[in-house]
Amino acid sequence: GTTLGASAAEQGRYFGAAVAVNKLSDSTYVGILNREFNSVTAENEMKWDATEPSQNQFNFTSGDRLVAHAQANGMRVRGHALAWHSQQPGWAQNMSGSALRQAMLNHVTRVATHYRGKIDSWDVVNEAFDDGNSGARRNSNLERTGSDWIEAAFRAARAADPGAKLCYNDYNTDNWNWAKTQAVYNMVRDFKARGVPIDCVGFQSHFNSGSPYPSNYRTTLQNFAALGVDVQITELDIEGSGSTQATTYGNVTRDCLAVPRCNGITVWGIRDTDSWRASGTPLLFDGSGNKKQAYTAVLNALNAG
Ligand code: G3I
Repeated sequence: GTTLGASAAEQGRYFGAAVAVNKLSDSTYVGILNREFNSVTAENEMKWDATEPSQNQFNFTSGDRLVAHAQANGMRVRGHALAWHSQQPGWAQNMSGSALRQAMLNHVTRVATHYRGKIDSWDVVNEAFDDGNSGARRNSNLERTGSDWIEAAFRAARAADPGAKLCYNDYNTDNWNWAKTQAVYNMVRDFKARGVPIDCVGFQSHFNSGSPYPSNYRTTLQNFAALGVDVQITELDIEGSGSTQATTYGNVTRDCLAVPRCNGITVWGIRDTDSWRASGTPLLFDGSGNKKQAYTAVLNALNAG
């Protein structure tokens, strides 16, 4: 293939990008998006603060624009994210206990119902585990409603949209030896054993000097897949530039291709200037929209797969 999406499709996979809906009026941006990618994730527009700014008053305007763009261009949509400790609307930040639990479940149900039939995979729960060496859950208002909040969210999502794949998504879960990775692995194993509806695990893969691409990344993907879930690389960006960065991008791509259940890669933005990071050049296209060495490394890896 000659584009990321076409080459990934030849390997039975998709290649996606996080999209900021307000950039859909930027012709350079949209030109690259439509040429190269066959999956999109809303960078912010499907999050709780965006979709339910006041309790029980839903706003799907921006999310719907992205879904329409995806459908018009044959792209799949990754929904991001139904339940998360961050980017909650103010009214939810101030809630606790059973009221918060009910509000969260209502949110999951209403959003997943609105998008029923249009979402390939949902990040049902995002970033619920602590960093560091404890392997503990993250202390959040959601966790304080009771540690079964995660499975409750998955059950609500399944009931609302039985056709969507339901994923757990997190960062710093790439290195097989890290406590956080093991903790998420144990949760997924437990969910599969008890019949909690989970279909996939997303590895955000924001790689930088503090959390570099680990040599056991492929092992991690393989071990999760062996639990009976699909795995995806969901928010890929890699600090650096030039051939060093390109090599890492190629390695990540080859690791996914080596794992049959790794069925898609999403980069967290299109041009370096679109990145959420305040500085650096972590993506596949430069600020002018030119292909970088990293792009070529990914494309070559896909075509060699
Ligand atoms: O839209 C408002 C604007 O009206 C306001 O003037 C401006 C002032 O701060 O803020 C704008 O909102 C910002 C929003 O991005 C849209 O640009 C928020 O402040 C800012 O916090 C928000 O950042 C997003 C971040 O998630 C929030 O946690 C990034 O764009 C987004 O890339 C990032 O994505 C996360 C994933 O969802 C989960 N995994 C990590 C990843 C990177 O942090």
